[in-house]
Amino acid sequence: MDFKKLVMKNRSYRRFFNHYKISKNTLLELIDLARLTPSAKNLQPLKYFISYDEKTNQKIFDTLSWAGYLKTGGIDIEPEERPSAYIIILGDKRLADNFLIDAGIAAQTILLGAVNKGLGGCIVATIKRDKLKELIPENENYEILIVVALGKPKEKVVIETVKDNDVKYWRENLTHHVPKRSLTEVLLNDLSHLP
Ligand SMILES: Cc1cc2nc3c(=O)[nH]c(=O)nc-3n(C[C@H](O)[C@H](O)[C@H](O)COP(=O)(O)O)c2cc1C
Repeated sequence: MDFKKLVMKNRSYRRFFNHYKISKNTLLELIDLARLTPSAKNLQPLKYFISYDEKTNQKIFDTLSWAGYLKTGGIDIEPEERPSAYIIILGDKRLADNFLIDAGIAAQTILLGAVNKGLGGCIVATIKRDKLKELIPENENYEILIVVALGKPKEKVVIETVKDNDVKYWRENLTHHVPKRSLTEVLLNDLSHLP
């Protein structure tokens, strides 16, 4: 897929065809991509925990907050629309004390890899971490950073242009609209003065 198409298609998807299962091998392939990404001081302090069975998925789902800007945040994801798998990204406190940029790069790489495979997902950072921790072995060594939810997307997401500085996404007829700032708004250089 053309790279811009891949980036545009890689939206935050929150509703999926839950009957579509994601295999352990697919999740391992995605983590294999993430482990190759840049890392501050190349410390590579990130660790990953995968889930693709109903029972563990349910436990993870219960700790996550979805789409805070929507009035229906979280409630409108029916059981049959829930993610089929999750990758929890954790920081190994024995290896570093600052993980966030590494985690963002890893999460985006996982999502791009997922979209390239016809899947999709969402980064979730609003997490009941104390509850989620219970799933992690030897959890005293790890900080839960973000959860990447994955599945076969059911919803349509379209990109809009930000108007009046309103960055809130919205839903209309089951389509999710996500406003993005324009190229001229995000570029600080004065284009008319550039050679
Ligand atoms: C660091 C980070 C944390 C996020 N946390 C959540 C979250 O807790 N819940 C959620 O539903 N979406 C979460 N998102 C997804 C954003 O809401 C989403 O990226 C934004 O609405 C723009 O949509 P887009 O990803 O399709 O461009 C998060 C995204 C990032 C990058």
